[in-house]
Amino acid sequence: MLKGKHIILGICGGIAAYKSAYLLRLLIKAGAEVQVVITPAGKEFITPVTLSALSGKPVISEFFTANTGSWNSHVDLGLWADAMVIAPATASTIGKMANGVADNMLVTTYLSAKAPVFVAPAMDLDMFAHPSTQRNLQLLRQYGNHIIEPASGELASHLVGKGRMEEPENIVKVLEEYFAASQSLACKRIMVTAGPTYEKIDPVRYIGNYSSGKMGYAIAEECASRGAEVVIISGPVSLKAENQSIKVVDVESAQEMYDASVKEFPRCDAAIMCAAVADYCVENQSSHKIKREHDELPVIRLKKNPDIAASLGTMKSDRQVLAGFALETDNEDANAVEKLHRKHLDFIVLNSLNEPGAGFKTDTNKVTIIDNTGNRRVYDLKSKRLVAKDIVDVLIEKMP
Ligand code: C5P
Repeated sequence: MLKGKHIILGICGGIAAYKSAYLLRLLIKAGAEVQVVITPAGKEFITPVTLSALSGKPVISEFFTANTGSWNSHVDLGLWADAMVIAPATASTIGKMANGVADNMLVTTYLSAKAPVFVAPAMDLDMFAHPSTQRNLQLLRQYGNHIIEPASGELASHLVGKGRMEEPENIVKVLEEYFAASQSLACKRIMVTAGPTYEKIDPVRYIGNYSSGKMGYAIAEECASRGAEVVIISGPVSLKAENQSIKVVDVESAQEMYDASVKEFPRCDAAIMCAAVADYCVENQSSHKIKREHDELPVIRLKKNPDIAASLGTMKSDRQVLAGFALETDNEDANAVEKLHRKHLDFIVLNSLNEPGAGFKTDTNKVTIIDNTGNRRVYDLKSKRLVAKDIVDVLIEKMP
């Protein structure tokens, strides 16, 4: 899994830095190409000579190489990397990463890195438990970084507690698992509907809803990060797909979303119906702006929109997986199960508007996933990015 991967190994000034030499050795043995970036304090704990001998590359620590004056580009390094591992990560570097204090090569490289970042903290137990460290680690999690939790045991201070850097073998395992997962949807094409629909009343007004598209876009990003070819059929949102490989088909009304979805679905291995589709559209759309000067109140007559998920449910072949969402205010479970069966879904993601932090516009969500075999998984409140991971894990289980 690590063969040919470009890995930046960031080393900070902690006693666990001696283990980084072994970690580096394991990465090289696994076939990775490793560039070490070390903080000035890191060099007090392990010499660049050892690290460059093991990696076969000069170790980078300063912005400029002293004798030649050549510039070490953190931007190029950040783009070169398939992963960045910071092990050991000290409280100080974690704090700088969390707050963008770019005063050394390691933190500037971190800020420029496009690749996934893995952070293996190592410090005294009280430093680790301090609310400041915990808050900074939480920020890193929110940025999407992977925290490799330290183990409990005897520390350099001879105190016993949580703060020992995870063993190098286990850090390598985390990386291998990450890269294995990143291939888990390779060669699969996945469609995600996202956002609201706008149903035109007249040229300047519409019926819409509060959907931001955040959940659908997070699912699309997660599928793409696992190697899938992804197409988002997107209602009007102010989001952009971060992963350049994601294709976005912009639509406005439910009918347009239906047309685009029906066209894309036969070429897809799975579809996740995340859009908040209007149930009705305006039958008597006005081609002119409706004026308030009229005596009579205007009447907006509605007609039913097509149910996109239900239509795909009837088109679906055995090799395709179809998932939907249910956003309910009451009788949540029963309504979700009814939709799951009526729309021929493989699973449904239930989120409740009654849960604080769940539903429209928020960055967090709390979901229950119910599948067509009656299996129920209840998840905690988490960021939509992490909810997307849970949903895609279930999707992968359901793929034939
Ligand atoms: O029936 P309800 O709108 O609650 O169903 C929600 C699920 O059905 C979601 O997955 C939503 O994206 C999908 N849906 C759809 N087309 C509609 C209405 C809902 O695809 N017209």
